[in-house]
Amino acid sequence: MRYTNEVDNIKQLIAAAKEVRLNSYSPYSKYQVGAAILCASGQIYAGCNAEVASYTGTEHAETAALASAISAGEALAKPHFIEAVAVVTADGAYPCGNCLQRLTEHTDDCDIYVANDQGEILQQTTLKKMLPVRFKLKNKF
Ligand code: THU
Ligand code: ZN
Repeated sequence: MRYTNEVDNIKQLIAAAKEVRLNSYSPYSKYQVGAAILCASGQIYAGCNAEVASYTGTEHAETAALASAISAGEALAKPHFIEAVAVVTADGAYPCGNCLQRLTEHTDDCDIYVANDQGEILQQTTLKKMLPVRFKLKNKF
């Protein structure tokens, strides 16, 4: 726990991801994903995956949680507002590369907790470890 030292916060974060996962709309893959983001404000935002018959439009849980945080004004309140992310699946899957890139818009680095549907932490890592470098418009932002 490099960035987030409060154990209670992490427990709450994983509980939020575990709970929202049950709302997953995933009739095609039958793979439920829940994600939650702990913000610098102390607020937690959660999201689940939402599939589309055309497949490509499928919303990932991490992206849904991020959209919820941004919609609530977290990105305006503080650039780099993400402190930690939790992802809950049946078997402890990591976030995909596209979700990692999206997260890098809003933090230099953060903790990532990967848990199973019992809420047990299977992996604890950081965004930087998972995505050491990212795509960036070098001279613009
Ligand atoms: N999924 C996520 O929600 N997040 C990821 O980063 C990886 C994949 C979802 C998409 C799809 O509904 C299901 O997992 C199976 O790929
Ligand atoms: Zn993803």
